[in-house]
Amino acid sequence: MSEHQHHHDHGSHSHESHRPVVHAPQADAVGAYTRAYAEAQPDPGRTVVSVDMETSEFDWEFIPGRTTRAWGFNAQVPGPVIEARVGDVLEVRLTNRLPEPTTMHWHGLRLPAAMDGTDMVQRPVDPGETFTYRFRLPDAGTFWYHPHTHEAVQMEHGLYGAIVVRGPDEPVLDADRVLVLDDVMLDDDAQVEPPGGWIERHNGREGGTRLVNGRQEPELTIAAGQVERWRIVNAASARYVRLSIGGRPFTIIGTDGGLIPAPLTVTEVLLATADRVEIAVGPFAEGEVLEVVSLKYNRRSITWPHDETFATLRVGAPAPSRASIPAMLRHIEPLVRGPVVPTREVHLGVKMSLRGMDFVINDETHHRDRPVVVGELQVWDVINDSNMDHPFHLHGFFFQVLDLNGEPPAFLSWEDTVNVPPKSHVRIAWMPDDRPGEWMYHCHILEHHEKGMMAHFQVVRPGEEPPPPAHAHHHHG
Ligand code: C2O
Ligand code: CU
Ligand code: CU
Repeated sequence: MSEHQHHHDHGSHSHESHRPVVHAPQADAVGAYTRAYAEAQPDPGRTVVSVDMETSEFDWEFIPGRTTRAWGFNAQVPGPVIEARVGDVLEVRLTNRLPEPTTMHWHGLRLPAAMDGTDMVQRPVDPGETFTYRFRLPDAGTFWYHPHTHEAVQMEHGLYGAIVVRGPDEPVLDADRVLVLDDVMLDDDAQVEPPGGWIERHNGREGGTRLVNGRQEPELTIAAGQVERWRIVNAASARYVRLSIGGRPFTIIGTDGGLIPAPLTVTEVLLATADRVEIAVGPFAEGEVLEVVSLKYNRRSITWPHDETFATLRVGAPAPSRASIPAMLRHIEPLVRGPVVPTREVHLGVKMSLRGMDFVINDETHHRDRPVVVGELQVWDVINDSNMDHPFHLHGFFFQVLDLNGEPPAFLSWEDTVNVPPKSHVRIAWMPDDRPGEWMYHCHILEHHEKGMMAHFQVVRPGEEPPPPAHAHHHHG
């Protein structure tokens, strides 16, 4: 898009006002969007957090001193951190200045289907168009936003950002920071490489430039004696991060769906792509220098894993601490007690086709799964028939992991993404609350998702017929 076009669009409200506000794949979805928009009201005493987001192409220094044509929200990578409180309404006015259509998906937020930002519920926003998302924020935690269109290219260029929602009862720490981890594959001129060949399609892309908040291996500082809350998002296309902070202990306090029942001290934690973890870090002694690394993790792709640095943490002059982490952080009611019969099997697999390697769910690319009824407990066995790890992600609803190959997890938690190791099964439970509409689940390795390892399904009210399937608007692929 030329400079002229850019300024013309930017300044001209009349130009935008005659464009449709509602982009829907089918007439039915227009009503769903309009209702969801009107119903999104803040709780008493809470507010509407209103954000203007513009996607565009711009110069960015992933590597200090070297300029890359990046894509991002509001000309930064990551996009701005959206901060709000439970019970607020988030209203985001997205204007697309990219050379191609896009959408915003709200990863981990329990919102109405019509606001989910996928091509199942809306027509992607064309260059020059504006679309408004509006929904209430029901949960505290660390979430993120990213396009749900042409993800392997758009997210690789820098289109993603974090969302922090705070509740009434947060543990008190000395600082609260967001670290969005990513990697990018740059050529000799520091430009983002175009999509690669079959190895990349099989493994997912792992770029050699590792980023924290959009910068290559930055230096972080922490005051001696203080304990900080780090909210970590793995925004990489395919890289798993087995996080270590110089081998020192840190304390897990939250995961995808907010706080866990009790703090757990560990020396490492695995973040599959799209995973979040909240940890309490410190205290350290003045002068210490610690490497924030991803330890070697074999996700059984074709690339050979090794330890890789994300950042250096320097411990500065001491400062007083007021941090206190309670022994009990949150009560989580188990969805399931005792033995239970699964209601559905979801098989993740790889199969050969005329196109080459397909990534499938229940033997199909872009699988159409059967409906789920509001209020009926879901117990799904997610079974990985393949020889490599896949991070399973469910849109719009949190689940509890019941077991991995029969072993219960270390703690009860709410999750939207879980790693399924090769030839393994993860049993999850979730309750569809009254948010009918079109939802999806998929592998969050972007290349696998694109190659078909995704499924969509309807959530329907009891006794209601599922509406005829919406047809997705695939602009790419
Ligand atoms: Cu991060 Cu379909 O999601
Ligand atoms: Cu699809
Ligand atoms: Cu996968």
